[in-house]
Amino acid sequence: MRPTPLIRAADLRRRVRHLGAELAREYSARPPIILALMDGAFCFAADLCRAIPLEGVELQFRRAASYRDGTEPGRLELEPLGDLAGEHVLVVDDIIDSGLTLAAVVAAAHAARAESVATCVLLDKPGRRRPGGLPRADHVGFAIPDLFVVGYGLDHQGRWRHLPDVCVLPDPG
Ligand code: IMP
Ligand code: MG
Repeated sequence: MRPTPLIRAADLRRRVRHLGAELAREYSARPPIILALMDGAFCFAADLCRAIPLEGVELQFRRAASYRDGTEPGRLELEPLGDLAGEHVLVVDDIIDSGLTLAAVVAAAHAARAESVATCVLLDKPGRRRPGGLPRADHVGFAIPDLFVVGYGLDHQGRWRHLPDVCVLPDPG
């Protein structure tokens, strides 16, 4: 099945620019460490960090792999965060779905002694939260319906990450 565009690259660019400006206002007095979750956030984080015109922004990358059974959330494997004492951490991910990944990363950042922890996602599927999942991200690019999407970093079984648009994958299985 061919993926069909849901959010075009030009609209992604525009929204990411606005998110960058919003984050620059919020963090003007305390530049954040952006903690980008790999692999899904690689496009979003690359564009977003360049849209935040602040000095002192730091970028770190951690692998967060949710071993999924098809499209259902599964066990999370998260690379250690290290010591974040006194840091303002902005966790950046591609999408919040069940919210379980972000809940675990936010808890890990607090456990690593971060001064503050906030979250920013490109996409939000608000209808999909599970008990124990983060109820909401602090900064959201687009709310989308309960569809499986690929492109702009998001994958299905390792494929489609390179598509410039966010696309719907019909019947991902
Ligand atoms: P959560 O833990 O269920 O919130 O899911 C977070 C992770 O699941 C994201 O970082 C994605 O890697 C993956 N994910 C959730 N929904 C989709 C989707 O529609 N397409 C591709 N990946 C998804
Ligand atoms: Mg993924």
